Amino acid sequence: MGGHDEHDKWIVRSTEGVGATFESILKSRLSRRDVMKTVGVGASAVVIGSLGMEASSVAAQSSPSLAFTKIAPTDPAFDDVVVPEGYYVRTLIRWGEPLTASAPSHNVWEQTRAAQEQQFGYNCDYVGFLPLPVGSTNSNRGLLAVNHEYTNEELMFANYSFDNPTATQVDVSIAAHGMSVVEITRAPDGSWSYVRGSQYNRRLTGFTPMRLSGPAVGHPLMKTSADPAGTTVLGTLNNCAGGKTPWGTVCTAEENFHQYFGNLDGLDSNDPRYAIHRRYGMPREASERKWERFYSRFDVGQEPNEGFRHGWMVEVDPYDPNMTPVKRTALGRFRHEAATFTVASNGQVAAYMGDDAQFEYVYKFVTAGRYNPNDRAANMNLLDEGILYVAKFNDDGSGEWIPMVYGQGPLTEANGFTSQGDVMINTRRAADLLGATKMDRPEDVEPSPVTGKIYVALTNNTRRGAEGQAGTDAANPRANNATGHVLEITETNNDATAASFRWEMLILAGLPSDPSTFFAGFDKSQVSPIGAPDNVAFDNQGNLWISTDGAARAIKYNDGLFAVPVEGSQRGHVQQFFSTVTGSEVCGPEFTPDNKSLFLAIQHPGEGGTFEEPVSTWPDRVGLPRPSVIYIGAWDSRVIGS
Ligand code: FEO
Ligand code: CA
Ligand code: CA
Ligand code: CA
Repeated sequence: MGGHDEHDKWIVRSTEGVGATFESILKSRLSRRDVMKTVGVGASAVVIGSLGMEASSVAAQSSPSLAFTKIAPTDPAFDDVVVPEGYYVRTLIRWGEPLTASAPSHNVWEQTRAAQEQQFGYNCDYVGFLPLPVGSTNSNRGLLAVNHEYTNEELMFANYSFDNPTATQVDVSIAAHGMSVVEITRAPDGSWSYVRGSQYNRRLTGFTPMRLSGPAVGHPLMKTSADPAGTTVLGTLNNCAGGKTPWGTVCTAEENFHQYFGNLDGLDSNDPRYAIHRRYGMPREASERKWERFYSRFDVGQEPNEGFRHGWMVEVDPYDPNMTPVKRTALGRFRHEAATFTVASNGQVAAYMGDDAQFEYVYKFVTAGRYNPNDRAANMNLLDEGILYVAKFNDDGSGEWIPMVYGQGPLTEANGFTSQGDVMINTRRAADLLGATKMDRPEDVEPSPVTGKIYVALTNNTRRGAEGQAGTDAANPRANNATGHVLEITETNNDATAASFRWEMLILAGLPSDPSTFFAGFDKSQVSPIGAPDNVAFDNQGNLWISTDGAARAIKYNDGLFAVPVEGSQRGHVQQFFSTVTGSEVCGPEFTPDNKSLFLAIQHPGEGGTFEEPVSTWPDRVGLPRPSVIYIGAWDSRVIGS
């Protein structure tokens, strides 16, 4: 971890001026209850007022029950999963398992595009459970929508050469990306199985035709030689996390799409498109996977616009296997981590989103139209019209959602914006111009279904405070932030359409022995070590569940899943519930509606090894490691965590 530990002497910027101590800033960002606990006083409005806290309209709730015995973290070399006493963990579906009746069994020695297009894909990330029938809360039968973020060719293929991939290997890799939709059923004993050949089973891949919609459809930058109208795209790539809409579709996030495009320097560096592609991190020369050698659409010199057709949120209806997925350009273009949805009291729908890169931003999209709970079809194009906002976190704990509307503020021709489509295609530059707050890699951003408060996982940013980079601020208070943090946002009037909010620090992750850590004021001696928060979810009680990606590097333990109450006396009591295998990150997490089953995606098990020299054999204990979706249940069928 190098010199990451010297956090006890931080000086951070604040409205109190440069030089305010970290502690003073932190106190001003603590919740009302924590302030009382921290300063050791009773419920005194005077004290609260003196710290500049507004009286909270949300009454403190009793502590939601979490009664499991936390597990100990495991060493990164430990290649097995761990759950608390009283729970079991089983594998539901692995990379390569056949989804259709006619799909061949997986054979790593005879992989083909045609086979992979009918088999479960690689590197599962997002997991969404959608009950069957549609609109029900059935916990025994449903569809699992699972993203396949990327491929580890060195683990998939024997004797793989990064310099000289074969055409077949490239095609298999493209087909191993995207999403799987698969029907699953739960037996009375709690065990799950997937239904091979279900009418719902489907694969979306890097080859699947998709439709563009919203402000950027037909934009000159969306037109290619294969699609002169700028309306249809082949494929979705690097689908990280996502979210379910209130009408039962799934939005999947195109995250690190830039890595698939090669030869940017084949484009004149004075071409305005060059600067946009660079702002999004496209490599100037060959891409890592060399797909551009086989498909000209991945060669920026030959198809300068194809890259603009990636980096979107893609809406998929898992209940309709014939639906053409739609890239919703109104939600902006960036390295989308996820989108999670909530319905405001007036029926407008808000989607919270992060752009997962160092010094990038947190966003919110609010639909113009209103959700109709009685007419599913009427909601299907809600995501085409609305306003995208980017977040500014002020050091005094206030915050603003800045609208990203063409013609407003700096988003004018003087700065190169001539339409709303321009703003959506070059969202990052628009956010720069609007003065949004540069964050420590925003991952999942999710509202609690119980309180409406929104939680922002910021996974890390080891360049914060480095020479030539942005320094610390109150919302990103650690320089060289290797272990990440979690913010809590409260919308003004608890209204998801609000233009302003308050925010507080919930967790500064790391080893509890690290003086820079903070767990909402909870006794550090009782919390689990946690590093690099990534995905978040809520149980029905409103407890926050956090999965991690990068703990092995950040705190020298395997990644895991952690539960933490966010209300009541246990607020900040982080406890580890699950530990994963060597080389992997933990994704999902997703509960069934009854909270008796919990799905997790184990992504890139054995990363760091190769086909010839694997460092993990999970889950089969023979041959290759296989990215898989697992489920956890209690032996006595109790609600998970209770
Ligand atoms: Fe794919 Fe930001 O994690
Ligand atoms: Ca992620
Ligand atoms: Ca989530
Ligand atoms: Ca991640």
